[in-house]
Amino acid sequence: MADSSAPASTTPYGTLPPASNPAERKPLSLPRLAGMQARGEKIAMLTAYDATFAAMADAAGVECLLVGDSLGMVCQGQSSTVGVSLDAMRYHTECVARGLQRVQGTAWIVADLPFGSYHQSREQALASATVLMQAGAHMVKLEGGGWTTETVRFLVERGIPVCAHLGLTPQTVFALGGYRVQARETESAERLRADALALQAAGAAMVVLEMVPASLASRLTGELERCATIGIGAGRGTAGQVLVMHDMLGINLGRNPKFVRNFMEGAGGVAEAMRAYVAAVKDGSFPDDSLHAW
Ligand code: KIV
Repeated sequence: MADSSAPASTTPYGTLPPASNPAERKPLSLPRLAGMQARGEKIAMLTAYDATFAAMADAAGVECLLVGDSLGMVCQGQSSTVGVSLDAMRYHTECVARGLQRVQGTAWIVADLPFGSYHQSREQALASATVLMQAGAHMVKLEGGGWTTETVRFLVERGIPVCAHLGLTPQTVFALGGYRVQARETESAERLRADALALQAAGAAMVVLEMVPASLASRLTGELERCATIGIGAGRGTAGQVLVMHDMLGINLGRNPKFVRNFMEGAGGVAEAMRAYVAAVKDGSFPDDSLHAW
């Protein structure tokens, strides 16, 4: 825990309050994340794709940086994540990791395994995950339940921390029929719950829950004691929250999803907007009940 009586620090991104002083913080690790979950301390995650924004987010107190395959849309101008290559993920993961090194950042880097890089076999998943871990990731994320469970177990047994991703899984947007709320009905909610429990049993230490009803996300957060739930458009009851950085800065090329808050509104700049995001996740004021996907 940062010492609030410690002096503020000056960085290229302005003068940071003591709680954001990297020198006051310890690097994130799986045991520290598990401790946060156990204490009910909210986890702030944000996407990052390059060195500068990664360093800024770290300085603002973001604990987990997600090198998301959303970079296909926000960096490459694609219309979905399906076209993102493993090589692109490696490149952006290296950029983020170098940015953190430059400022002695403490954030935990999660990198997305892109579409097609883990679907053929567990061995293919291991080879792809190795590329991202060697690029600087601390954890890899893959989408879906069911068939992915054995892949998760295979990676975890080989020392690779894994984050799962359930609900709206953007890599399968064409099969899902669009970006829409998932698991609304009892049957699909039960299926998602069973997937989440199986993924936890296989060793997933984190699960992103995207665009699912808040009641389901809250229930799962209570049930998954060894797997931290990170919500996006899933209400306020999860162990942490994640947003695409361009969405929370109000600079994406399309229309913001309705569960997003534009943190640039009222902020003096990007660093302040990121600090406001972290503060709002931590004190539970983001998301409020009006910001949801359904
Ligand atoms: O790629 C990404 O940014 C993501 C988030 C939407 C969770 O997976």
